[in-house]
Amino acid sequence: MVHYGVDYYPEHWPEERWEEDARLMQEAGFNVVRLAEFAWSRIEPAEGQYSFDWLDDAIDTLARHGIKVVLGTPTASPPPWLMAAHPELFIVWSNGTRATYGSRRLNCPTNPLFRDYAARIVRAMARHYRDNPHVIGWQIDNEFGERCYCPICQRAFQAWLQHRYGTLDELNGCWGAVFWSHEYTDWGQIPLPMSTSQAPAASGSGIVANPGLALDFARFMSDTYVEFQQNQVAILRDVCPHHFVTHNFMGFTYDRLNYFDLAGSLDLVAWDNYPGGFWKTQAPDPTEVALGHDTMRGLKMRSFWVMEQQAGPTGWGIVGPSPRPGELRLWAYQALAHGAEGLVYFRWRTARVGTEQYWHGILDHDGRPRRRYAEVRRVGQELGRIRSQLQQTEVRAPAAMLLSYDSRFAFEIQPNNLGFSYTRHFTDYYAALRGHGVDVDIAAPDANLSPYKLVIAPALHVLDQSIAEHLQTYVADGGVLILTARSGVKDHTNKVVDLPLPGWLAPLCGVEVVEYDSLPQGSRIPLDWQDHRWQTDGVGTEASVWCDVLAPRGAAIIARYAGSYFAGEAAATVHAVGKGQVIYVGTIGDAALATAVITGALELAKISPALRAPHGVEVTTCWRGQQPVLFILNHTANDETIRLDCAYTDLISGLSKDGTVVIPARDVLVLVN
Ligand code: GAL
Repeated sequence: MVHYGVDYYPEHWPEERWEEDARLMQEAGFNVVRLAEFAWSRIEPAEGQYSFDWLDDAIDTLARHGIKVVLGTPTASPPPWLMAAHPELFIVWSNGTRATYGSRRLNCPTNPLFRDYAARIVRAMARHYRDNPHVIGWQIDNEFGERCYCPICQRAFQAWLQHRYGTLDELNGCWGAVFWSHEYTDWGQIPLPMSTSQAPAASGSGIVANPGLALDFARFMSDTYVEFQQNQVAILRDVCPHHFVTHNFMGFTYDRLNYFDLAGSLDLVAWDNYPGGFWKTQAPDPTEVALGHDTMRGLKMRSFWVMEQQAGPTGWGIVGPSPRPGELRLWAYQALAHGAEGLVYFRWRTARVGTEQYWHGILDHDGRPRRRYAEVRRVGQELGRIRSQLQQTEVRAPAAMLLSYDSRFAFEIQPNNLGFSYTRHFTDYYAALRGHGVDVDIAAPDANLSPYKLVIAPALHVLDQSIAEHLQTYVADGGVLILTARSGVKDHTNKVVDLPLPGWLAPLCGVEVVEYDSLPQGSRIPLDWQDHRWQTDGVGTEASVWCDVLAPRGAAIIARYAGSYFAGEAAATVHAVGKGQVIYVGTIGDAALATAVITGALELAKISPALRAPHGVEVTTCWRGQQPVLFILNHTANDETIRLDCAYTDLISGLSKDGTVVIPARDVLVLVN
C-alpha cells in the first residue's frame, strides 16, 4: 500500500489547530490527505469570486509534514447562492416532487446550467493547483448516484433514445410498444418511468412502465453520470496532465450506475468502505467487504484506493457500534490483501457540527488522540516497515464472477420473485468461493476470460448473442462455467427471447427449461444430488426461490428435485463442451445451495484452496512476480488455529511461522516463503 492517509476538513476547524493535526497525521504514518470535496461555499463564496488562500495554507501545512493532497471537486454540494438563484437545478424524484435545499447531491446531473457552473469551479481549481507540487490527484464529485426525473432529463432521454434507435418504428418494435397501445408517434411523447399512485404492489418494484423503456432509462441515467463526470475529467486532463483522476464509488452493493462505464475514463477507482454501515445491528460482514474490494479492483482490473475507510462509530442521527479493538487494523490489511494501493480514513476528527456530527473520525470531537488513533498509527508504522516488500503485488484470481449491470437493472424493474435479489444471489456464490479461500475477480460479461479456470455468471438475465458466443468460446477452450436460473431470459431490449430457456445459452448448457415455478415465500424443496461431489458436509440443500424444471438435451443431471409436483425432475446439470464444462443450476436457494455447487465446481475446475482456514478466517493470495504473499485475516473475536503447508516468514512481525499457528482475535499474518 503506497498511500495511507485521511479525509480532512480544515474548513471545519480553527486554523490554529491545523499544525497540530498535521503533526499527528505525520506521526500516524500518513502520506496523503483528501481535501475540499464539499468546500464549494468556501472556494467560491459568491458567483465567480474564488478564494484559495485558506486551502493553499492547509496544503502548505500538510506539506511541511510530508503529506500530499488529493483534491475533491466540490460539485456534490452546490452552495445556497447557486441553488436559490436557480431552483430548476434541483433533482426531481420519481414521484414527481422536486427536492429543496438542505442536503447534498440534490442537483440534476443533466442540466446544462449546472454542468456549466460545475465546469467553472473545476477549471478554476485546476488552474490554481496545476503546478502545486503537493497535489497529486483529483477525486471528481462524491459518490455519484440518484436518478432525476425532471423535464430536462426527459428531453435528454428522448434525445438519447433517438440516437440509440434512429426511428420511432425501431423503438416501438424493440420495446413492443403495441402493448397497451403505447406506440409513439413523436419522440416528445416518450415519458419517464415515474412511480405513480398506480404503481401496484404487483410490479414488485413500484415500476409499471414498459420494461424496455425502464431499462433504457436506467442505462440513460448511468450514461448521464458518466458524461457529467467526463466533463470534469476532460478539464482536469487538459489543465493538470500530471495528476491522477478518480471518483469515490460505493462498492458492490450500489446498483444504480454501471460502474464499469463510470470507471472507464478514470485513472483509478476509489471507493468508500464502511463495514459498519449506518448503524448495523449485526457485526460487520467481512465477505461483503471483500466483495466490495474485488468489485472495485475488477472495474479496471488494477489496484484501487479506499478513499473513505471507516474510522470510528458511524451514524447520522443514531450512533453505531464502535469498531472493536483490532478492527481498524484488520480492515486496513483486508484492503491491502484485495489489491488496494491507497487507504484513506474517513474522517480525521469527528465534526462538532452538521448532519454528520456522529459519524466518527479517528479523533473524537475534542480532538484528542485515543485508542483509534493508536491503532491507525500502528498500521502506519507497520506499513512503513513492510511497504517496500509489498510493492507491485497483484491478485491473480483463478475464478471470475460476471457482474451484469443490464441484468441488475432489469431485476430492479421486475424482481421476478419477492424473495429474489440479484445482489444476494451474486453474494451467495461469491461467499461460497471465498469460503474455500479462492480469490475472485469480478468482471464484466464481455471481459477476457482466458485467465480463469472457473467463471460464474449468476442470473445472467439480459444478454445478446455475442455474449453467449463469448461464453461458448471460453468453455470450448477448457473453462468451467456456472450459469444459474433466470439466465438468458431477456435480449438487450429487455424483451423475453423467442426461444426455449435459457435462450441463447441453451445449446451451451445442453438443457431446456420445460417449465418453471416461482416459489411463494417460505417454500423449501429439497434437492437430491447425484454424487457426493456436490454435497456439503451434512448441510441439506434446498430450492427456496425459484425452480426451473429441466429437460437435458445432452447434459448430465447432477441434482433432481425431491419435492413438489416436479419431484424427480432435473434441477441442475453439467454439460461437456469442447475441452470445458457448463453447470446449469436451474434453481435459486440460499447460501448452502451455492456452497454445494461451488464445492463440486472447484473439483471440476481443479482449483484447490491456498490453505484450509476455519470459518471467519480469510485467506487471500497476492503475487509479487512468482512469489506468493499470503494474507491471513482473523475476522473473529477468538483465537483461531490454522495449519500452514510450509515454513513462512510473517512480514509484520519478522517471525518464522510453520506447522500449526494460532492467530489471535482480529489479528493478521502476512506470510512469504
Ligand atoms: C459517505 C460520503 C461521505 C460521508 C460518509 C458518512 O458515503 O461520501 O461524505 O457522508 O458517507 O456519512
